[in-house]
Amino acid sequence: MAEETHIDPPLLAVLKGERRDPPPVWLMRQAGRYLPEYRALRAEKGGFLELVYDSDAAAEITIQPLRRFGMDGAILFSDILIVPHAMGQGLTFGPGEGPQLTPALSDGDFSMLEPNPLHFAKIYETVAKVRKAIDPKETMLGFAGSPWTIATYMVAGHGSKDQAETRRLAYKDPARFQALIDKIVAVTVDYLSGQIEAGAQAIQLFDSWAGTLSPAQFERWVIAPNADIVGRLMVRHPDVPIIGFPKGAGAKLAAYAAETGVDAVGLDETVDPAWADAMLPPGMPVQGNLDPLALIAGGEALEQAVTRIRHALSGRPHIFNLGHGILQDTPIAHVEHLFDLLRRPL
Ligand code: CP3
Repeated sequence: MAEETHIDPPLLAVLKGERRDPPPVWLMRQAGRYLPEYRALRAEKGGFLELVYDSDAAAEITIQPLRRFGMDGAILFSDILIVPHAMGQGLTFGPGEGPQLTPALSDGDFSMLEPNPLHFAKIYETVAKVRKAIDPKETMLGFAGSPWTIATYMVAGHGSKDQAETRRLAYKDPARFQALIDKIVAVTVDYLSGQIEAGAQAIQLFDSWAGTLSPAQFERWVIAPNADIVGRLMVRHPDVPIIGFPKGAGAKLAAYAAETGVDAVGLDETVDPAWADAMLPPGMPVQGNLDPLALIAGGEALEQAVTRIRHALSGRPHIFNLGHGILQDTPIAHVEHLFDLLRRPL
């Protein structure tokens, strides 16, 4: 492979700083329950985790949306909570209740946590199978949750609206909380390196709960650990771009982009793309940021939102995406309409 003349696929080229019109596109949570072919496979195999740890099924699900819509990127079908699961917490996705991790770690001993490599081996197998199956014009994306977001689930044992329990712990016992964050950083660096060695061409770091932190806490628990991961990955894999997605960061996005060392930033739907364009370092690739509800609405609302985003980001490398994961009740026809719109030049 190393000797072949090699042209980057569009999504990867944009992550490395090129501008493309139309922009390359993928959608967060593009493999999932809005797709009948996903629901069929899930019903057959039993549960979400069964699918994640079955590399043939996971590879098939990863590719399903590309087959249907022609995305430029394949995002590994897995979940950010595979990391705490590998570190020994029980993990269930009960119907309608969101993920549960047991035992919750609020009073636990963080030093005990060690990842079981067998969990990650299955995920690497999926990455390798997808990379082998996709077209060279498509980009294989790996991912992990960022330490703060992972810690909120590990500490509380479940998701929450305001992450109060974890924020309280971080204030009350910062040294103990730092030990947990450091552990997650180390495991995540190895896990992402494994994904890259298996064939991932770019990485996204999901910090889904970055939005509830005060500025000082954001510096310490979002910017610092993400910078730590990026720095360590860059030593091992200098050519693999990293997209940081600090959801809800708002005005703190500029500091995040400047200080973490990420190659590109993902914008959630609450960020004005024109503001982001003015605030972010010139030439830095940006990903986003269609409101998932505009995709559900479809029609003119969708057309206007897409045009606005493309215009605002036309002066820099842009990857089109949603501002957050695609919702389960999104009509397939609206996703098709989005792809028709995106194939037209501005
Ligand atoms: O983007 C993709 O298609 C790749 C796969 C992927 C999943 N989860 C699959 C999934 C990715 C990248 C994630 C990330 C993830 N998981 C995040 C970060 C992004 C975000 O949404 O903020 C978070 C916070 C999680 C944790 C998680 N996983 C929750 C809260 C839930 C339950 C809510 C829900 O939407 O069901 C999950 C389950 C989950 N992860 C499903 C899928 C396809 C649904 C499982 C099913 O019931 O079939």
